[in-house]
Amino acid sequence: MTRGFVHSPSSARVVFGAGTVAEVAEEVRRAGGSRVLLLARPRHAELVAEALGELVVAQFDGARMHTPVEVTAQALDVLKSAAADCVVAVGGGSTTGLAKALAARTGVPQVILPTTYAGSEVTPVLGETENGVKTTRRSPDILPGTVIYDVNLTLGLPVPTTVTSAINALAHAVEALYSPEANPQVNAVALQAIRGIAHSLPLVAADPSDVDARAELLESAWLAGTCLSVSMGLHHKLCHLLGGQFDLPHSETHTVMLPQVMAYMEKEAPAALARVAEALDVPDAAAAVYDLVTSLGGPTSLRELGLAESSLDGIEPASVLRAAWAGQRPEGAPDLSALTAQVIGSFDNTPDPRLKRLLTDLVRHLHHFAVHTDLTEQEWLFAIDFLTRTGQISDDKRKEFVLLSDTLGVSSIVDALTNSRSPLTTPSAVLGPFYVEGPPAMEHGADISGGLDGEPLWVSTAIVDTEGKPVPGAVVDVWQANKDGFYDVQLPELDGPVLRARFVADDQGRLEFWTTLPKEYPVPEDGPVGQMLNGANRHPYRAPHVHFMIMAPGHHRLVTQLFVKGGLYMDSDTVFGVKNGLIVDFPVAEGAPPAGREVTGGWRRLDYTFRIG
Ligand code: BEZ
Ligand code: FE
Repeated sequence: MTRGFVHSPSSARVVFGAGTVAEVAEEVRRAGGSRVLLLARPRHAELVAEALGELVVAQFDGARMHTPVEVTAQALDVLKSAAADCVVAVGGGSTTGLAKALAARTGVPQVILPTTYAGSEVTPVLGETENGVKTTRRSPDILPGTVIYDVNLTLGLPVPTTVTSAINALAHAVEALYSPEANPQVNAVALQAIRGIAHSLPLVAADPSDVDARAELLESAWLAGTCLSVSMGLHHKLCHLLGGQFDLPHSETHTVMLPQVMAYMEKEAPAALARVAEALDVPDAAAAVYDLVTSLGGPTSLRELGLAESSLDGIEPASVLRAAWAGQRPEGAPDLSALTAQVIGSFDNTPDPRLKRLLTDLVRHLHHFAVHTDLTEQEWLFAIDFLTRTGQISDDKRKEFVLLSDTLGVSSIVDALTNSRSPLTTPSAVLGPFYVEGPPAMEHGADISGGLDGEPLWVSTAIVDTEGKPVPGAVVDVWQANKDGFYDVQLPELDGPVLRARFVADDQGRLEFWTTLPKEYPVPEDGPVGQMLNGANRHPYRAPHVHFMIMAPGHHRLVTQLFVKGGLYMDSDTVFGVKNGLIVDFPVAEGAPPAGREVTGGWRRLDYTFRIG
């Protein structure tokens, strides 16, 4: 069912970079301010005060978590007695919260310089506490008008706070994906934020002064913050409740709860969680976030935040809270990335760089496949036996491995990568197992069917280069199946090659011959590949076609096939060889047959120009 949506972004002016603190004075003036109340802890106050110069008329450094109204009242006094007309806040969520509270009461413009990843600077939401009760409100005049992200301000953020603050940001992006208000734009931003946080956070934890990693993390946290334009879900509800009731630290609580809520949501919103897993490139998103937190030394249990287990009685869903209290790892595949890294590392000394690339990528994708599918030992042994049988049935005629590659579409992929890179030349198609070297040379106008039954077909083709100039002397090999779908090599009663020939293009680059209309046919089904097709409910048929191999000095060899338009299996060719440019009319022909041929009944013709490069 098509799902509608409403997208109502609230957006601030964002200035992002390293050293952007220098722009704060200009941004204040732009916002209409001339007398600034600076909200900042001493650590950042000096730097920003200096950049603001004489615009600063007052400072306040008493912001507290959960924005208590008595603190707001003190700051409001300072603002009024200094006749400030703008607030500049430098800090984390608490400082931003105070700026919002002041703006909500006075309407002064806000310029925010975040030093953490919490994201509240881009939301029109304010949570305040009065007498221990937290209330949250949402209004356009709460949204800060200007946010200056200066990566340099985040460099000093200690690793533990960096981790919990970034996981808090991650929670915004994750919950946006299963929000009832989700929309395509927020989804795209959320996925980008998830990728960015997962990539940059371990780098920042390893080297907190890595400016590039810090920049990626800050940028991703901003993106995650913008996802708060849609409503959040269970995770935020629980964090809010736990924070309010037990005064738990904000970002630590987010960090503990997120993997547990994600594990729960895997059942409630499987599609959204699958997208998170895909963005993280892991089989199980909840387990992966848990592992990320553990590997970075972050908190994983409410117990370690000092909460008594009995406090959680009556809070639902109980299973989530129990797991969060104990810090249980959500079920999922174990973290095997170190093993993959070790195997990839074993190829470090491969002298040939191409071989190294192929081997390491193969291992990466194979491990990824095994982990993602949660591959069982029994399944892997079956696969090994399948490949063993594929080898055992193969000889110089029966090429089961080639057939396996064909029916998995790999041959067509490799063929396209190697031979079909230019739109100026005729598309290529797989060679297939029925080509025989050195086919019999034939004259123009000859009949290659060797008298076999079938609807007569007159083929008239031209070979031109990419500029449309004829290629005289091109050598063209042709081969095809008969009216029953068999190649000559499959018909032991036949004496010598039929339905295959070699022609040389004439002075105009043309060649013409008689043959019969080819029919669809099955690939061999009596081996492991047949077993696979059968197991997948796939038919073994190839769409009807004629093969061509065109060789001319100074040109790339073209191996291709022309398919009979309207023929069977055009949309489900079992080796995935059909391409749009190769589906051709083989119309019923009018008039006298060429080359002195006499036919009883109708005949068809195929007219085609091959372009080679
Ligand atoms: C063929 O067109 O001859 C062919 C190609 C791939 C597998 C089997 C047959
Ligand atoms: Fe074929």
